[in-house]
Amino acid sequence: MSKFWSQVVQDLTPYVPGEQPKLPKLVKLNTNENPYGPSPKVLEALQAEVGDTLRLYPDPNSDRLRQTIADYHRVTPDQVFVGNGSDEVLAHTFQALLKHDLPIRFPDITYSFYPVYCGLYGIAYQQLPLTESLEICIDDYLQPNGGIIFPNPNAPTARLLALPEIERLLQANTDSVVVIDEAYVDFGGDSAIGLTARYPQLLVTRTLSKSHSLAGLRVGYAVGHPDLIEALTRVKDSFNSYPLDRFAQAGAVAALEDHAYFEETRRKVVTSRNRLVGELEMLGFVVLPSAANFIFARHPSNDGAVLTANLRERSIIVRHFKNPARIDPFMRITIGTEQQCAVLVSALREILS
Ligand SMILES: Cc1ncc(COP(=O)(O)O)c(C=O)c1O
Repeated sequence: MSKFWSQVVQDLTPYVPGEQPKLPKLVKLNTNENPYGPSPKVLEALQAEVGDTLRLYPDPNSDRLRQTIADYHRVTPDQVFVGNGSDEVLAHTFQALLKHDLPIRFPDITYSFYPVYCGLYGIAYQQLPLTESLEICIDDYLQPNGGIIFPNPNAPTARLLALPEIERLLQANTDSVVVIDEAYVDFGGDSAIGLTARYPQLLVTRTLSKSHSLAGLRVGYAVGHPDLIEALTRVKDSFNSYPLDRFAQAGAVAALEDHAYFEETRRKVVTSRNRLVGELEMLGFVVLPSAANFIFARHPSNDGAVLTANLRERSIIVRHFKNPARIDPFMRITIGTEQQCAVLVSALREILS
């Protein structure tokens, strides 16, 4: 604390990102990165950007990237907003579209950045408890509100809400923006992007960090009605008009254009996930159904924090959340390579024996 801090900063409770340890040779299963590197075409595109043009600012509107995303999702570029990771897209969304008189609504167990943005922008919010089985219940959201946001699949539970349920919400909730955060949807869900044509209050956010193996490049985007996109652009142009550098724009285009590589790595992650779930169940774990590149698992007779610490002693890092108390028994485990999953399973077998 310092007397030089503004009141906003004094009142902030910042987000705590997952650990990015500097130690080599770790089995790093804690921040939902893709275990496979980006497409070789991305690396070529990045290399092509190294040169004299770096003295020039990048395209402030990321036109080529927005066109590529528009083609990818069969929408128009004026329905696409891009940002420095979907975290930045989400931050602008909170300020541009979710700050109204009524509180916004999101689940009690969800991406822990949402309450942080509310704190930063002074947005009132209500956290609605997930069901016993840690699912989102749409009926809970059908009250007047300043906006609604949740990830689908949800994080850290990995549970998916079926698309008809999202459409039911959109039919009932027409006076405020509904944001569906699809950071993980490529690993097992149906996207709501197709619904944006019929529901002008729907904004869908996406990231290239997970299914396109580009967490290090920081590229995220949103798709929605041009009026919603214009609001985000107005905030962006009042904050940082060049959020994506030349590398990010070129690399993201190449990643989205390499469908074959995307399909191959996605299939590998899903296959490893399904195998890992079976193996953990054989060890007695209860694993929630996962549509993501991570799983949420607990062991009936072993504490989540203790298991996490035991794995750490064996240089395997997974994520454990203390709050709220009902997720304390769980570990969130990112799907690694086949080999990393095998190391994890044999470590757990040893710990439990
Ligand atoms: C639900 C959810 N949304 C958004 C993000 C942010 O992703 P990024 O800023 O890397 O695009 C994450 C990151 O883990 C996430 O879990």
